[in-house]
Amino acid sequence: MGHSGAHDSIVRKAVIPAAGLGTRFLPATKATPKEMLPVVDKPAIQYVVEEAVAAGLSDVLMVTGRGKRPLEDHFDRAYELEEALREKGDSERLAEVQRSSELADVHYVRQGVPKGLGHAVLCAAPHVGPAPFAVLLGDDLIDERDPLLPAMIEVQKAKGGSVVALIEVDPAQVHLYGCAAVEPSDQEGVVRVTDLVEKPDAADAPSNLAIIGRYVLAPEVFDVLRDTPPGRGGEIQLTDALRTLAGRSRDEGGPVHGVLFRGRRYDTGDKADYLRTIVRLACDRDDLGPEFLAWLRQFVAARSVAENSAVREATG
Ligand code: UTP
Repeated sequence: MGHSGAHDSIVRKAVIPAAGLGTRFLPATKATPKEMLPVVDKPAIQYVVEEAVAAGLSDVLMVTGRGKRPLEDHFDRAYELEEALREKGDSERLAEVQRSSELADVHYVRQGVPKGLGHAVLCAAPHVGPAPFAVLLGDDLIDERDPLLPAMIEVQKAKGGSVVALIEVDPAQVHLYGCAAVEPSDQEGVVRVTDLVEKPDAADAPSNLAIIGRYVLAPEVFDVLRDTPPGRGGEIQLTDALRTLAGRSRDEGGPVHGVLFRGRRYDTGDKADYLRTIVRLACDRDDLGPEFLAWLRQFVAARSVAENSAVREATG
């Protein structure tokens, strides 16, 4: 089984595109990749790598761009830091520091010019080879208590082709996502994707099912991406390539299925969602939660008092 044949059918590798410009999070992302922004006390990307590993994918390829150094350093050994912690006898922090370097077998490839998510995925072709693979976007965090990727890998194994993750969104939000037209499948919670549109206006959206940042892709996607012209925003869109695959039969790299996700997901690439994510995850933590939540309650209560008296003053 270790040997990969002409067309290995087992998902073993994860690709994490992290070469975007992160413009929604400027100025924090001017010199730091957005994937390195801390979520409580870990960079967002570490949660994503941990998720891949938990799904059995310890071979991780990161597609990086400018400012890739912090990403590489984070998943590498840090001898000076480790030595300093060892001398201090701080074994707990030492273990934490070593954890990220021992987590996975992390590889890197440069995208060069950020020509879109589809182009970033195409950069993974030489590393991935002729096998289905997972793609995890670094600014979409899936709560570890609600695993999604294992279910997607199962669907890919059973039905072939590619698998996307779908969430139901408010129709007013659909223009922020790739949107899927679907029909039922023979499996509960799984749909057959018949068409895809990247960031449609609400009026043109085929459904309120939005694609989130987890994919299991058939290797045929690479050939399709090579032939996919730049779409929306002049970028090579993964959604456009998936749209092509959705119309194909299994022996040509199709079809595309969608797994409906109803668990907890956090979008850390958006400032407001990022703040909400940190508050939620901090509240859930055994070490930080109780004290933080107590403070948060007081803070909100004090705010309400201040607002009420401001309203009273304004209305006399
Ligand atoms: P986004 O659409 O969120 O773009 O990319 P972005 O540039 O990172 O962020 P904003 O919108 O400007 O704030 C989705 C994912 O695809 C990666 C990003 O790193 C992100 O994980 N990506 C995007 C690339 O790797 N290369 C690209 O050329 C574009």
